[in-house]
Amino acid sequence: MSFCIAVDGPAGAGKSTIAKKVAGKMNLVYVDTGAMYRAMAYYLITQHTDLDNPEAISANCRKAQIRIAYENGEQIVLLNGENVNPYLRIEEVGKAASVTSANGSVRVRLVELQQQMAEHTDLIMDGRDIGTCVLPKAQLKIYLTASSRVRALRRYNELTAKGEACDLDVIEADIIDRDYRDMNREISPLKQAEDAVLIDTSDMTIEEVVEYIISLAEARK
Ligand code: DC
Repeated sequence: MSFCIAVDGPAGAGKSTIAKKVAGKMNLVYVDTGAMYRAMAYYLITQHTDLDNPEAISANCRKAQIRIAYENGEQIVLLNGENVNPYLRIEEVGKAASVTSANGSVRVRLVELQQQMAEHTDLIMDGRDIGTCVLPKAQLKIYLTASSRVRALRRYNELTAKGEACDLDVIEADIIDRDYRDMNREISPLKQAEDAVLIDTSDMTIEEVVEYIISLAEARK
């Protein structure tokens, strides 16, 4: 049986940065499921799908073939054969993903793919429903969080480092909005699994969190 670590938590808690580092140190494959939802949202945008119409989303998502590949350890999302990684971090795609990921048909398709990946591969997978729905038998479940202000500040620093003008309060409002949608949707809302370890990263360094998760994982191997 494969060894799996499930990492869930709200946007900006540091899931992908931390999961990637744990993967590197423990020789696990890192699976970013948010990127799969983003790729699906990107597809729906390119098809001019009405995102207010759940039936249109359900119908169009069936035409999207999403696959994951790895290049130099980096996850590549293939959408109908095309590498769509360059489009996934666009703000519009992230916002659309938060809406379209609430759709049942979208989730069924992507959860199936995620479960198949975990069948024979030792991995660390991050998302919103990994511990509660995708990998309920994961050997270790982590719920990673941080205050909305800290998460907004991290995003603000990222954007200003890239030279992009932004407003901290607007970013925080957007984060609170996204949390609300992710936590209150009908299907697989974001919530801490009963057997997950809660880690609040507000006052921790990345290295501290990584070392803590590795110590928990080693104890369960
Ligand atoms: O983690 P992220 O920001 O890349 O995720 C993009 C969106 O996809 C986010 O609004 C939540 C959703 N998502 C989800 O519903 N389930 C997952 N397992 C991963 C992400």
